[in-house]
Amino acid sequence: MIIKTRTLFYTITIIFFLTSFIGMLFYGYKTFYIEPTNATSKSYTHHFALIAEETENDYWRLIEQGAKEAAAENDIFLEYVAPQKADNDQLLRLFDRMIAAKVDGIIVQGVEEERFVDLVHKATERDIPIITIDTDVKSSARKAYVGTDNFYAGELAGKTIIENTEGKQFVGIITGRFEAINQQERMAGFQSAIASEPRVQIVAKEESNITEIGATQATYALLKENPKVNALVGLSALDGVGMVEGLQEIAPNKEMYITAFDVLPETLNLIRKNEINATIEQYPHEMGFDSVEVLIDLQKQDLLENQIFTDTGVIEKQDLSKIHGESQ
Ligand code: BGC
Repeated sequence: MIIKTRTLFYTITIIFFLTSFIGMLFYGYKTFYIEPTNATSKSYTHHFALIAEETENDYWRLIEQGAKEAAAENDIFLEYVAPQKADNDQLLRLFDRMIAAKVDGIIVQGVEEERFVDLVHKATERDIPIITIDTDVKSSARKAYVGTDNFYAGELAGKTIIENTEGKQFVGIITGRFEAINQQERMAGFQSAIASEPRVQIVAKEESNITEIGATQATYALLKENPKVNALVGLSALDGVGMVEGLQEIAPNKEMYITAFDVLPETLNLIRKNEINATIEQYPHEMGFDSVEVLIDLQKQDLLENQIFTDTGVIEKQDLSKIHGESQ
Protein backbone atom coordinates (compact mmCIF):
# COMPACT_ATOMS: atom_id res chain seq x y z
CA MET A 1 0.00 0.00 0.00
CA ILE A 2 2.78 2.37 1.05
CA ILE A 3 4.69 1.48 -2.15
CA LYS A 4 1.63 2.19 -4.33
CA THR A 5 1.09 5.60 -2.66
CA ARG A 6 4.76 6.47 -3.17
CA THR A 7 4.64 5.49 -6.91
CA LEU A 8 1.53 7.62 -7.33
CA PHE A 9 3.24 10.52 -5.56
CA TYR A 10 6.35 10.27 -7.80
CA THR A 11 4.23 9.99 -10.97
CA ILE A 12 2.22 13.13 -10.07
CA THR A 13 5.44 15.02 -9.21
CA ILE A 14 7.09 14.06 -12.51
CA ILE A 15 3.97 15.02 -14.52
CA PHE A 16 3.79 18.35 -12.67
CA PHE A 17 7.49 18.99 -13.26
CA LEU A 18 7.29 18.15 -16.96
CA THR A 19 4.19 20.35 -17.48
CA SER A 20 5.87 23.31 -15.75
CA PHE A 21 9.09 22.78 -17.70
CA ILE A 22 7.36 22.66 -21.08
CA GLY A 23 5.25 25.68 -20.10
CA MET A 24 8.35 27.60 -19.08
CA LEU A 25 10.08 26.84 -22.37
CA PHE A 26 7.04 27.88 -24.39
CA TYR A 27 6.01 31.04 -22.53
CA GLY A 28 9.61 32.01 -21.77
CA TYR A 29 10.34 32.03 -25.51
CA LYS A 30 7.29 34.21 -26.11
CA THR A 31 8.20 36.61 -23.33
CA PHE A 32 11.86 37.02 -24.06
CA TYR A 33 11.92 36.76 -27.84
CA ILE A 34 13.97 39.67 -29.15
CA GLU A 35 13.54 40.94 -32.71
CA PRO A 36 16.77 40.61 -34.69
CA THR A 37 18.48 44.00 -34.85
CA ASN A 38 17.16 45.94 -37.83
CA ALA A 39 18.37 48.97 -39.79
CA THR A 40 16.81 51.54 -37.47
CA SER A 41 19.09 50.63 -34.61
CA LYS A 42 22.20 50.76 -36.84
CA SER A 43 24.61 53.53 -36.02
CA TYR A 44 25.58 55.89 -38.84
CA THR A 45 28.68 58.01 -39.27
CA HIS A 46 26.77 60.96 -40.78
CA HIS A 47 23.29 62.16 -41.60
CA PHE A 48 22.93 63.76 -45.06
CA ALA A 49 19.87 65.16 -46.82
CA LEU A 50 19.14 65.04 -50.54
CA ILE A 51 16.59 67.63 -51.66
CA ALA A 52 15.11 66.91 -55.10
CA GLU A 53 12.97 69.00 -57.44
CA GLU A 54 10.01 66.62 -57.25
CA THR A 55 9.37 63.40 -55.26
CA GLU A 56 8.07 60.89 -57.78
CA ASN A 57 10.00 62.05 -60.84
CA ASP A 58 11.81 59.05 -62.42
CA TYR A 59 14.91 61.11 -63.13
CA TRP A 60 15.21 62.16 -59.46
CA ARG A 61 14.57 58.60 -58.33
CA LEU A 62 17.73 57.62 -60.25
CA ILE A 63 19.68 60.33 -58.44
CA GLU A 64 18.26 59.02 -55.15
CA GLN A 65 19.27 55.44 -56.04
CA GLY A 66 22.86 56.47 -56.73
CA ALA A 67 23.03 58.54 -53.56
CA LYS A 68 21.58 55.74 -51.44
CA GLU A 69 24.11 53.26 -52.84
CA ALA A 70 27.02 55.50 -51.89
CA ALA A 71 25.40 56.16 -48.50
CA ALA A 72 25.02 52.44 -47.80
CA GLU A 73 28.65 51.79 -48.70
CA ASN A 74 29.79 54.45 -46.25
CA ASP A 75 27.39 54.00 -43.30
CA ILE A 76 25.65 57.29 -44.01
CA PHE A 77 22.01 57.92 -43.20
CA LEU A 78 20.61 59.63 -46.30
CA GLU A 79 17.26 61.35 -46.18
CA TYR A 80 15.51 61.96 -49.54
CA VAL A 81 13.03 64.84 -49.42
CA ALA A 82 11.27 66.87 -52.12
CA PRO A 83 8.12 68.84 -52.91
CA GLN A 84 5.45 66.58 -54.31
CA LYS A 85 5.28 68.72 -57.45
CA ALA A 86 8.09 71.04 -58.54
CA ASP A 87 7.76 74.21 -56.44
CA ASN A 88 10.61 76.53 -55.45
CA ASP A 89 8.91 77.83 -52.29
CA GLN A 90 8.44 74.35 -50.95
CA LEU A 91 11.96 73.34 -51.89
CA LEU A 92 13.37 76.32 -50.01
CA ARG A 93 11.24 75.51 -46.97
CA LEU A 94 12.58 71.94 -46.96
CA PHE A 95 16.09 73.32 -47.31
CA ASP A 96 15.58 75.55 -44.27
CA ARG A 97 14.12 72.66 -42.29
CA MET A 98 17.14 70.47 -43.01
CA ILE A 99 19.47 73.24 -41.86
CA ALA A 100 17.44 73.55 -38.64
CA ALA A 101 17.70 69.77 -38.19
CA LYS A 102 21.50 70.21 -38.13
CA VAL A 103 22.24 67.45 -40.63
CA ASP A 104 25.90 66.92 -41.52
CA GLY A 105 25.54 67.94 -45.15
CA ILE A 106 22.93 68.81 -47.78
CA ILE A 107 22.76 67.94 -51.48
CA VAL A 108 20.19 70.19 -53.13
CA GLN A 109 18.99 71.21 -56.58
CA GLY A 110 19.94 74.83 -57.10
CA VAL A 111 17.13 77.33 -57.60
CA GLU A 112 17.58 80.90 -58.75
CA GLU A 113 16.43 82.97 -55.84
CA GLU A 114 18.08 85.33 -53.41
CA ARG A 115 16.58 83.13 -50.69
CA PHE A 116 18.58 80.14 -51.94
CA VAL A 117 21.82 82.10 -51.67
CA ASP A 118 20.81 83.24 -48.15
CA LEU A 119 20.06 79.69 -47.05
CA VAL A 120 23.41 78.43 -48.32
CA HIS A 121 25.00 81.24 -46.34
CA LYS A 122 23.01 80.29 -43.23
CA ALA A 123 24.07 76.64 -43.58
CA THR A 124 27.71 77.62 -44.07
CA GLU A 125 27.63 79.68 -40.88
CA ARG A 126 26.42 76.56 -39.08
CA ASP A 127 29.18 74.45 -40.66
CA ILE A 128 26.80 72.44 -42.81
CA PRO A 129 28.39 71.89 -46.24
CA ILE A 130 26.09 72.36 -49.22
CA ILE A 131 26.42 70.72 -52.62
CA THR A 132 24.24 71.66 -55.57
CA ILE A 133 23.18 68.79 -57.80
CA ASP A 134 21.70 68.78 -61.34
CA THR A 135 21.42 72.59 -61.30
CA ASP A 136 24.07 74.94 -59.98
CA VAL A 137 23.82 78.38 -58.40
CA LYS A 138 27.33 79.66 -58.93
CA SER A 139 26.70 82.87 -56.99
CA SER A 140 26.00 80.91 -53.78
CA ALA A 141 28.57 79.75 -51.23
CA ARG A 142 27.91 76.07 -52.08
CA LYS A 143 31.00 73.95 -51.67
CA ALA A 144 30.62 72.18 -55.00
CA TYR A 145 28.32 71.38 -57.91
CA VAL A 146 27.87 67.80 -59.11
CA GLY A 147 25.99 67.31 -62.39
CA THR A 148 25.80 67.95 -66.10
CA ASP A 149 27.45 70.93 -67.77
CA ASN A 150 24.05 72.21 -68.85
CA PHE A 151 25.29 74.78 -71.36
CA TYR A 152 27.31 72.09 -73.11
CA ALA A 153 24.32 69.72 -73.05
CA GLY A 154 22.23 72.39 -74.79
CA GLU A 155 24.98 72.86 -77.38
CA LEU A 156 24.89 69.12 -78.08
CA ALA A 157 21.17 69.33 -78.82
CA GLY A 158 21.81 72.18 -81.28
CA LYS A 159 24.69 70.38 -83.02
CA THR A 160 22.59 67.24 -83.36
CA ILE A 161 19.95 69.11 -85.33
CA ILE A 162 22.57 70.77 -87.52
CA GLU A 163 24.25 67.46 -88.30
CA ASN A 164 21.13 65.41 -88.95
CA THR A 165 18.82 67.72 -90.88
CA GLU A 166 18.81 69.51 -94.19
CA GLY A 167 16.96 72.64 -95.22
CA LYS A 168 15.13 75.12 -93.03
CA GLN A 169 14.46 74.01 -89.47
CA PHE A 170 11.81 75.89 -87.54
CA VAL A 171 12.40 74.78 -83.98
CA GLY A 172 9.81 74.59 -81.20
CA ILE A 173 11.33 74.24 -77.74
CA ILE A 174 9.59 72.57 -74.80
CA THR A 175 11.37 73.48 -71.60
CA GLY A 176 10.75 72.02 -68.13
CA ARG A 177 10.32 75.36 -66.35
CA PHE A 178 11.32 78.77 -67.66
CA GLU A 179 12.59 79.72 -64.19
CA ALA A 180 14.90 76.68 -63.80
CA ILE A 181 18.56 77.61 -64.22
CA ASN A 182 19.54 74.34 -65.87
CA GLN A 183 16.79 74.85 -68.47
CA GLN A 184 18.00 78.40 -69.13
CA GLU A 185 21.58 77.17 -69.51
CA ARG A 186 20.51 74.40 -71.92
CA MET A 187 18.54 76.94 -73.91
CA ALA A 188 21.56 79.28 -74.03
CA GLY A 189 23.82 76.42 -75.16
CA PHE A 190 21.34 75.48 -77.87
CA GLN A 191 21.10 79.08 -79.09
CA SER A 192 24.87 79.41 -79.18
CA ALA A 193 25.23 76.19 -81.21
CA ILE A 194 22.75 77.29 -83.88
CA ALA A 195 23.89 80.93 -83.96
CA SER A 196 26.10 80.40 -86.99
CA GLU A 197 23.55 78.27 -88.85
CA PRO A 198 20.81 80.58 -90.19
CA ARG A 199 18.76 77.68 -91.57
CA VAL A 200 18.00 76.58 -87.97
CA GLN A 201 15.94 79.03 -85.94
CA ILE A 202 13.85 78.92 -82.80
CA VAL A 203 10.29 80.03 -83.48
CA ALA A 204 8.49 79.20 -80.23
CA LYS A 205 9.05 78.13 -76.62
CA GLU A 206 6.60 76.51 -74.19
CA GLU A 207 6.80 75.14 -70.65
CA SER A 208 5.95 71.54 -69.63
CA ASN A 209 6.17 71.91 -65.85
CA ILE A 210 8.44 68.85 -66.03
CA THR A 211 5.45 66.53 -66.55
CA GLU A 212 4.59 64.33 -69.52
CA ILE A 213 1.03 65.66 -69.72
CA GLY A 214 2.39 69.21 -69.52
CA ALA A 215 4.70 68.48 -72.44
CA THR A 216 1.82 66.99 -74.45
CA GLN A 217 -0.33 70.08 -73.91
CA ALA A 218 2.56 72.46 -74.54
CA THR A 219 3.40 70.69 -77.81
CA TYR A 220 -0.21 70.75 -78.92
CA ALA A 221 -0.48 74.49 -78.22
CA LEU A 222 2.89 75.23 -79.80
CA LEU A 223 2.12 73.36 -83.03
CA LYS A 224 -1.36 74.84 -83.23
CA GLU A 225 0.05 78.36 -83.14
CA ASN A 226 3.13 77.61 -85.23
CA PRO A 227 2.22 75.08 -87.92
CA LYS A 228 5.52 75.61 -89.71
CA VAL A 229 7.52 74.05 -86.84
CA ASN A 230 9.35 70.97 -88.18
CA ALA A 231 11.80 70.31 -85.32
CA LEU A 232 10.99 69.86 -81.65
CA VAL A 233 13.47 69.97 -78.78
CA GLY A 234 12.59 68.93 -75.22
CA LEU A 235 14.90 70.17 -72.48
CA SER A 236 13.81 68.03 -69.52
CA ALA A 237 13.40 64.31 -68.89
CA LEU A 238 9.69 63.76 -69.61
CA ASP A 239 9.36 66.22 -72.47
CA GLY A 240 10.30 63.79 -75.25
CA VAL A 241 7.49 61.35 -74.45
CA GLY A 242 4.99 64.18 -74.04
CA MET A 243 6.08 65.83 -77.32
CA VAL A 244 5.45 62.61 -79.26
CA GLU A 245 1.93 62.36 -77.78
CA GLY A 246 1.20 66.02 -78.51
CA LEU A 247 2.36 65.62 -82.09
CA GLN A 248 0.21 62.52 -82.55
CA GLU A 249 -2.82 64.45 -81.35
CA ILE A 250 -2.44 67.44 -83.63
CA ALA A 251 -0.43 66.36 -86.68
CA PRO A 252 0.25 62.61 -86.65
CA ASN A 253 1.61 62.49 -90.19
CA LYS A 254 3.88 65.50 -90.03
CA GLU A 255 7.64 65.02 -90.58
CA MET A 256 9.35 66.22 -87.43
CA TYR A 257 12.93 66.00 -86.17
CA ILE A 258 12.62 65.34 -82.42
CA THR A 259 15.40 65.75 -79.87
CA ALA A 260 14.68 64.76 -76.29
CA PHE A 261 16.56 64.89 -73.00
CA ASP A 262 17.64 61.99 -70.79
CA VAL A 263 17.51 58.25 -71.23
CA LEU A 264 14.45 57.17 -69.28
CA PRO A 265 13.15 53.84 -70.66
CA GLU A 266 10.10 55.30 -72.42
CA THR A 267 12.27 57.80 -74.31
CA LEU A 268 14.59 55.02 -75.44
CA ASN A 269 11.60 53.01 -76.51
CA LEU A 270 10.43 55.86 -78.75
CA ILE A 271 13.92 56.11 -80.25
CA ARG A 272 13.73 52.39 -81.01
CA LYS A 273 10.39 53.00 -82.75
CA ASN A 274 11.83 55.93 -84.76
CA GLU A 275 9.50 58.41 -83.08
CA ILE A 276 12.30 60.32 -81.35
CA ASN A 277 15.47 60.95 -83.36
CA ALA A 278 17.98 61.69 -80.63
CA THR A 279 18.24 62.32 -76.91
CA ILE A 280 20.83 64.03 -74.75
CA GLU A 281 22.12 61.60 -72.17
CA GLN A 282 22.73 62.60 -68.56
CA TYR A 283 23.99 60.37 -65.74
CA PRO A 284 21.66 60.93 -62.78
CA HIS A 285 22.73 57.76 -60.95
CA GLU A 286 26.37 58.93 -60.99
CA MET A 287 25.32 62.42 -59.90
CA GLY A 288 23.69 60.95 -56.80
CA PHE A 289 26.57 58.60 -56.06
CA ASP A 290 29.33 61.17 -56.58
CA SER A 291 27.58 63.89 -54.62
CA VAL A 292 27.50 61.71 -51.49
CA GLU A 293 31.20 60.89 -51.89
CA VAL A 294 32.02 64.57 -52.31
CA LEU A 295 30.04 65.38 -49.18
CA ILE A 296 31.98 62.71 -47.28
CA ASP A 297 35.27 64.29 -48.41
CA LEU A 298 33.98 67.66 -47.28
CA GLN A 299 33.57 66.37 -43.73
CA LYS A 300 37.38 66.29 -43.59
CA GLN A 301 38.61 69.13 -45.79
CA ASP A 302 37.59 71.65 -48.43
CA LEU A 303 37.75 70.61 -52.06
CA LEU A 304 40.13 71.79 -54.72
CA GLU A 305 37.61 71.18 -57.49
CA ASN A 306 34.20 72.78 -57.03
CA GLN A 307 32.56 71.89 -60.36
CA ILE A 308 32.29 68.17 -60.85
CA PHE A 309 30.72 67.54 -64.25
CA THR A 310 29.20 64.15 -64.93
CA ASP A 311 29.22 62.84 -68.51
CA THR A 312 26.90 63.96 -71.28
CA GLY A 313 26.32 62.41 -74.69
CA VAL A 314 24.00 62.08 -77.66
CA ILE A 315 22.02 58.86 -78.10
CA GLU A 316 20.48 57.92 -81.43
CA LYS A 317 19.01 54.60 -82.54
CA GLN A 318 22.39 53.11 -83.47
CA ASP A 319 23.71 53.90 -79.97
CA LEU A 320 21.00 52.10 -78.01
CA SER A 321 23.14 49.01 -77.52
CA LYS A 322 25.78 51.16 -75.78
CA ILE A 323 23.39 51.99 -72.97
CA HIS A 324 23.74 49.73 -69.97
CA GLY A 325 21.35 46.77 -70.22
CA GLU A 326 19.98 47.88 -73.59
CA SER A 327 19.88 45.95 -76.81
CA GLN A 328 18.66 47.28 -80.11
C1 BGC B 1 16.59 67.85 -65.50
C2 BGC B 1 16.00 67.99 -64.12
C3 BGC B 1 14.50 67.87 -64.14
C4 BGC B 1 14.09 66.64 -64.87
C5 BGC B 1 12.58 66.66 -65.00
C6 BGC B 1 16.06 66.64 -66.21
O1 BGC B 1 16.49 66.67 -67.55
O2 BGC B 1 17.99 67.77 -65.46
O3 BGC B 1 16.36 69.23 -63.58
O4 BGC B 1 14.01 67.84 -62.84
O5 BGC B 1 14.65 66.62 -66.16
O6 BGC B 1 12.03 65.48 -65.38
